[in-house]
Amino acid sequence: MKQKIEDLLSKIESLTAGKLQEVEEIRVKLLGKKGEITALFDEFRNVPAEQKREFGQKLNVLKTKAAEKIEELRQKVEEMGGSDAPSFDCTKPGDKYDLGTRHPISVTREEIISIFSKFGYAVAEGPEIEDDWHVFGALNFPPEHPARDMQDTFFISAGGDNPILLRTHTSSVQVRSMERMPLPIRIVCPGRVFRNEAISARAHCIFHQVEGLYIDKNVSFADLKQAVLLFAREMFGEETQIRLRPSYFPFTEPSAEVDVSCNICKGKGCNICKGTGWLEIMGCGMVDPNVLEASGIDSKEYSGFAFGMGVERIAMLKWQVKDLRHYFENDVRFLREFETVI
Ligand code: PHE
Repeated sequence: MKQKIEDLLSKIESLTAGKLQEVEEIRVKLLGKKGEITALFDEFRNVPAEQKREFGQKLNVLKTKAAEKIEELRQKVEEMGGSDAPSFDCTKPGDKYDLGTRHPISVTREEIISIFSKFGYAVAEGPEIEDDWHVFGALNFPPEHPARDMQDTFFISAGGDNPILLRTHTSSVQVRSMERMPLPIRIVCPGRVFRNEAISARAHCIFHQVEGLYIDKNVSFADLKQAVLLFAREMFGEETQIRLRPSYFPFTEPSAEVDVSCNICKGKGCNICKGTGWLEIMGCGMVDPNVLEASGIDSKEYSGFAFGMGVERIAMLKWQVKDLRHYFENDVRFLREFETVI
């Protein structure tokens, strides 16, 4: 019996199989009802009592080894794809995979960026978690000044006089670029921004912006107006008119809001433009000398303009989406409506 056990052990060691069918045959041969190991267990009944302990242990080891080997062979065969299923039918029509579509916000953001890159603007990005200095301080928001209330902020930590917060605009990227980049600077800054606003059809606590900055010698308000006009015509069509209304931002002086002529009613007045014939698309202005100086740029030698727009707003105007929340819910019925546009 001892010999038989040893023979079986070395036989098990050298077993191989290429198909699941063969693995099953091995299992039956060893552990099946009439298998060799099963037979040994039957023989065990006749082993003298004083040897039962020794042989019992040996038999159990043998059984475990066999079971392990069979499992190992089964796994190997499966990994090699050696299942016994009928081979692949290459004449069968393929399974159709639905293609996803790009999100309308991504499409709009890319379109804005590509228009400005044609005008020579590079893309600059920066962190979403920022400090007070880059979001407010360097942008001429005085401490405790009510201007900070314009943008309700999510604070992350109090951090002494430079708290950490979620950026409320991507103007912070413009500050970082002014600190680092050689002049002249011509950049657009796309990115997510965060404001503590109640979510409604017209406001959300997360949205996307593309802001722009151009700094060089002799940059004038006329340059700003021309850049905005060219952008508006590329984005909304050749016929588009713009109008600048005086406004206020701490970081630009003078500042303006830009309206484009409503391309739905062609200026006659409709419910999209609320009867005015104009739609507001962005804020802009000449960079305040204090902002240039705060980032180490000589405001006597250099001047610049900046602008900033909400991507959701531009997308809403382009596709007449009435509720901002659609952009964040990702209901595929909404997203699929852009399949043809994209
Ligand atoms: N940062 C402003 C905002 O988030 C937009 C802006 C940018 C206005 C640049 C003027 C100049 O509302």
